[in-house]
Amino acid sequence: MNRGERLQKVLAQSGIASRRACEELITAGRVKVNGVTVRELGVRAAPGDRIEVDGQPVHGPQKPLYVLLYKPAGCVTTAKDPEGRKTVLDFLSGLGGRVFPVGRLDYETSGVLVLTNDGDLSNMLMHPRYGVMKVYEAVVAGRPKDGVLQTLRDGIELDGATTSPCEVAVLGTDGRSTRLVITLHEGRNRQVRRMLDSVHHACLRLTRVRYGDLTLRGLRPGSWRHLRPDEVAGLRRAAAAGRPFADRRRLR
Ligand code: URA
Repeated sequence: MNRGERLQKVLAQSGIASRRACEELITAGRVKVNGVTVRELGVRAAPGDRIEVDGQPVHGPQKPLYVLLYKPAGCVTTAKDPEGRKTVLDFLSGLGGRVFPVGRLDYETSGVLVLTNDGDLSNMLMHPRYGVMKVYEAVVAGRPKDGVLQTLRDGIELDGATTSPCEVAVLGTDGRSTRLVITLHEGRNRQVRRMLDSVHHACLRLTRVRYGDLTLRGLRPGSWRHLRPDEVAGLRRAAAAGRPFADRRRLR
């Protein structure tokens, strides 16, 4: 069948989940088109096709929504938590539409989190190749020596692959703990915490203070706002350029 759009794209544009998560829904056999379960990713769907996910009808493309949430610590970055914990969606009352998180912050991590129903943008932003800049403030145990900071900058092997070069700066220390600013251009699972663990400086607190051009300015933990059109355009540019923004100041 060579008509319409790929099913995972149609699902993502309908606000079901990110494109990648929609692919997983398909391969898990949770999606039907015109009453027939689809498991292959090549299948297309056209206007008029009846699409269901878990037996629930999927409605057409939704009005695009782009949200910036100051994620507080103590909630999960998923739509539903099997353990019944608070989720990031619990903070978005009054939004009037369904969105899904772009990437993930750990339960204990706070900071900038983008949520959208724009599956294309989300897909680009989450792709490791696009490398949108992410800036974290981390409080770590002890006082990392210069050599340790350089090791973090140069790259550390995690799961058999070395992390890309990153920027690490010291904001201050009281000898027992130290505040670092870490700028990454990739987003592997629990990357900051695992990098810090591997140099034996446990991460005591972690906040993402910047994602591309987006910061926490004007927000408090748990509050959110819509992104302005220029901010959405900035994210698109960042994703497309592979390296974000003119502003690439070194934080060292
Ligand atoms: N790195 C981590 O370790 N955790 C996050 O939530 C984000 C980046």
